[in-house]
Amino acid sequence: MPDPSAAVSRAPGPRGLPLLGCVLPFRKDPIGYLMDAWSRYGDVVRLNIRGKTVHLVTRPEHIEHVLVHGRRTYFKGYGYDDQKLLLGEGLITSEGELWERQHRIMQPFFTPVGTVRFMEVMVSTITDMLARWVPLADGGRVIQVDEEMARLTGNIIVRILFSRDLNDETSRIDEAFQYCVGFIDRRSADLIALPMSMPSSANRRFRQCLRNIHRYIDERIDERRDHPGEEDLLSVLMNARDEETGVRMDRRQLRDELVTLFVAGYQTTMHALTWTWYLLDRHREAAERLWAEQHSILNGRLPGMESVHELSYSRMVFQEAMRLYPPIKVIVREAAADDEIDGYRIPARSLVLVSPYITQRHPALWENPETFNPERFTPEQTERRSRYAYLPFSAGPRICLGGNFAMLEAVLVLAMVIREYRLQLVPGHPVEPSMALKTWPLYGMPMTLHRPE
Ligand code: HEM
Repeated sequence: MPDPSAAVSRAPGPRGLPLLGCVLPFRKDPIGYLMDAWSRYGDVVRLNIRGKTVHLVTRPEHIEHVLVHGRRTYFKGYGYDDQKLLLGEGLITSEGELWERQHRIMQPFFTPVGTVRFMEVMVSTITDMLARWVPLADGGRVIQVDEEMARLTGNIIVRILFSRDLNDETSRIDEAFQYCVGFIDRRSADLIALPMSMPSSANRRFRQCLRNIHRYIDERIDERRDHPGEEDLLSVLMNARDEETGVRMDRRQLRDELVTLFVAGYQTTMHALTWTWYLLDRHREAAERLWAEQHSILNGRLPGMESVHELSYSRMVFQEAMRLYPPIKVIVREAAADDEIDGYRIPARSLVLVSPYITQRHPALWENPETFNPERFTPEQTERRSRYAYLPFSAGPRICLGGNFAMLEAVLVLAMVIREYRLQLVPGHPVEPSMALKTWPLYGMPMTLHRPE
C-alpha cells in the first residue's frame, strides 16, 4: 500500500476554464478529449471537470491498482448516480454488503457452466433471425446491421429473462429502455445536467418511461408468481437464495436486477457484434477463416456446448473487435481516501477513469494498435501481455457478470451467420464510431447479404 503522505506532486493535465474546467470540450467529445489529454500529458492525467478532480490512468499496473487491489480505496461512487436513476440498486450500481450478497446470489448463473442453460434460446433466436433474412438476401435488400444486432440481442435477453418475444408490447418497453439509456448517457456526459426535480420535458419523459418499465416488470413478476413453471431467469432469480444468509431478493431488488440485466445484457453486445461484422467485411481473409472454422467443426450441424469451445478463431475475432471498439469506453471509480498513483496525489472524493478504449490502443502495450489482428488473442500472445491491457469487461471484483454470456452469444452468432452469409457494407457509406461513452456507428451500418462462394 503506497504511503499517500509521501506523494507530493500533482499529475500533469490541461487547466481548462475557471469554474467549468474542461467540461465544454469533454462534453462535446469525451473520448477524443481524453485521448488528446493522454497523448499530451502521459499515462496519469489530471483533469478538472466542473470543479471535480478527475484522473485518467492508462497503464496496466495503475489499472490493476484501481480496479483490483484498491477495493477499499476505490468504489463506484457518485460517478454512477445517473445510472442509479434507471438501474436502482442493481448489481452494476450497488455497493458494499448489498452488492456482495447480490453477487453471491446471481454469479452462479453466469459462470461458464451456468450459461449453458441459455444456449438453446440463443441458438433458436439466431435461427429465427436467419430465417427472416432469407427473403431479404434473395431480394438483394439492404439490412441495417446495427438494428438487426439490437433486435437479435434484445430478443435473446427478453426470451432468457421472461420467456417472451420482442412483440409489439415488449418493443414498446424496449423503446422506453432506449430512451432511458440515451437520457442517462447524455446526462453523464453533460456534468451540468438539470436536477431531476426540474419539470423539463426530458425529465418528465424519462419518468414516464421508467414507470412503464417498472409496470411491465412488475406484471411479469406477478405472472410468474401466480403461474410458476417457466424455467427462465426470472423464475430462477425469484427462487434464488443467498447461501450465506438464506435471504431471497425482495420485489424491488428483483426489479432492479431485471432492469440491470436487460440493459447490460444487450446494449453492449449489440454494438460489439455490429463492429465485428464491419471488421469482417474490411478483412475478408478473416471472414474466410471464420467460415472454414465453423465448417470443419460444425459441418452443417447446429453448435453444441462442446463445439462452441472449439470455435477458437470466432472467439479471437470477437475479442479483437472489442479491443478496437470496446462497447464501454470508460469505467469510473471514486477514491474513498487519499491515495497515490505513480507518485501523483489522488485526493479522496476525486474520480479516477480507466478507459478500455485508450489502454487497448496504447502503443506500449499493443503492436500496430490500429490494425485488426485476431492473432493477438492466441493463448501464447495473451500470456505475454498484462491481464490489465485488455478490459472490455473491466477487471477485479466488479468485472462484468455477463462476460461468459456475451462471449457465448457472440461465438454462436458469428459461427451461425458466417455459415450462411457474407455481410458487405453498402459501398461508399461513411462509417464512424461515436466518440461518446458508448461505441455505436454514428451513421448506422447498412449492409447487404451474400451467400459464401
Ligand atoms: C460485449 C458485451 C459486454 C460488455 C463489453 C460488458 C462490459 C461490462 C463492463 C465494462 C462492466 C463494468 C462496468 C463498471 O465497472 O462500471 C460490466 C458490468 C456488468 N455487466 Fe457487462 N458487458 C457485456 C455484456 C453483459 C451481459 C450479456 C450481461 C448480462 C446478461 C452483463 C451484465 C453485467 C452486470 C450485471 C455487471 C455488473 C457486475 C458487478 O458490478 O458485479 N454484461 N459489463
